[in-house]
Amino acid sequence: MMRKFKLPMIGGVALFGLTIVAPAMAQNINVWDGVYTKAQAERGKESFGERCAACHGVQMQGIEEAPTLKQGAFVYNWDGMPVSILFQRLRETMPLDDPKGTSRKIKADILAYIMSENNFPEGKMPLPYQNSQLKRIQWNALKPK
Ligand code: HEC
Repeated sequence: MMRKFKLPMIGGVALFGLTIVAPAMAQNINVWDGVYTKAQAERGKESFGERCAACHGVQMQGIEEAPTLKQGAFVYNWDGMPVSILFQRLRETMPLDDPKGTSRKIKADILAYIMSENNFPEGKMPLPYQNSQLKRIQWNALKPK
C-alpha cells in the first residue's frame, strides 16, 4: 500500500506500458491498419511485373483464366480470413508455372503491392512473411467500423 504512494510516477508509467502494449500484441489487426510499407509495395510492383503480370496483366486486370487481383470478387474472396491463408495460396500455387521459384520475402513484397492496388493503407512496418505474424492480420474487404 505504502509503495503505491511513494512511487506514483514509476507505477503510472509501468501501468501505462502494460495496458497499452499488452493488448496491442495479443489483438489481431486488419489490412486497414497499415500493414505494409510504401517501399515494400514499390519493390513488389517490380517483382509483380516480372513474375505475375504475364498472366494477371500489368494492371492486375486479369487475362483469360488468370483472374483480376483488384477489387470486387478478388477482395471479397478473402474477406474475413487471415492474410496467412492468401499468402499460403501464393506460396503454394503462384506463379502458376513456377511456385517454388520465388522466395517468401519477394511474395510478401508482391502481396504488399496487391494491397496497395486495392487501396489498403500503407503503414510503418513491412508486411511480414512469417505465418505466425500473418495469421494475426485479417483481410477485410471493407474497413471495419
Ligand atoms: C502462368 C500464369 C500465371 C502466373 C505467372 C501467375 N498466375 Fe496467379 N493465377 C493464374 C490462374 C490461371 C489463376 C486461376 C486458377 C488458379 O487458381 O489456379 C490464378 C489465380 C491467382 C490468385 C487467386 C485469385 C483469387 O481470386 O482469389 C492469386 C491471388 C494469384 N493468382 C496471384 C498471383 C501472383 C501474386 C503471381 C506472381 C507471383 C501470379 N499469380 C502469377 C495464373 C498465373
